[in-house]
Amino acid sequence: MAGQCRPFKKGNIMVINRSVLGEHTISDSEQRQADKWMEHFDGSELMDWQRYVLSCFPKEEFYELPEDIYRLSAMHKYSTYNKFVWDTVVRNGCIASATLSLAFKPKVVVEFGVHGGFTTLLLCKINKNARIHAVDNSSILADYANVMYPRLPTCYVPLMHNVKNLSLHIMDSYMFDMFGKVDLCFVDGDHFNSGVEWDTWRAWANRNKEGDWCIAWDDYHPNNPDVYNIVNDFVKEVGYPLQKIVSWVWIGNKEISENDLINLKGI
Ligand SMILES: C[S@@+](CC[C@H](N)C(=O)[O-])C[C@H]1O[C@@H](n2cnc3c(N)ncnc32)[C@H](O)[C@@H]1O
Repeated sequence: MAGQCRPFKKGNIMVINRSVLGEHTISDSEQRQADKWMEHFDGSELMDWQRYVLSCFPKEEFYELPEDIYRLSAMHKYSTYNKFVWDTVVRNGCIASATLSLAFKPKVVVEFGVHGGFTTLLLCKINKNARIHAVDNSSILADYANVMYPRLPTCYVPLMHNVKNLSLHIMDSYMFDMFGKVDLCFVDGDHFNSGVEWDTWRAWANRNKEGDWCIAWDDYHPNNPDVYNIVNDFVKEVGYPLQKIVSWVWIGNKEISENDLINLKGI
């Protein structure tokens, strides 16, 4: 994860990082693209997981973000209903959380690192009968990856979607009592050294050994050497093969190729 980035004051003018402005422009043009694309979208030719995901998000219940919020952050992914559908169908935006959820049918989910709650929202909506424990040590959106985020509450998006199966825990992940029965753990909190190592090993120790379980990581890439090396050492030690679903890697009690996950049937 790249370093933190905060605005700084120059005289009386607040200077905002360029990447924020860049994102702003992308967000606007993608929004237009999504709106245009939606004019011809008829719901046919969807992958099974996509059809299921869309069925979990009725249009009339979708919380559209106020414009000044999504324009100033990475929140544009779920900014409007059109954008969400476009992102799901055209970009496979939520493929990892959706397909792992459908393959493992978790009842207890833990997510380390919540931020705006984009993955949390998916996990809550897709796993209707599960309890989703979302853990973050910051009560307002932390700035990261060189992006300055608006001062909104952590987990803002699922809270505004009014999900009923969410437990939000504002605390350091190492303080969270994992109760030893976790079916799906998504490790995406502290991306450095002991933080990711501790989360990884606690996820392992608290997996639900009596049922199906999986542990997934985001940002597994040599550019994030701590995540990359710690996950590599961890899988060597526990002896489970590291599997992949687009931008996430995972281990679990079942082996499922990326292709089989994407093409899951009978959902
Ligand atoms: C990459 S973001 C999470 C993104 C989120 N999982 C998603 O998919 O949208 C990382 C988050 O981890 C949180 N975090 C960092 N260190 C943490 C720690 N030790 N315990 C809990 N949360 C932590 C940060 O506050 C930040 O909100």
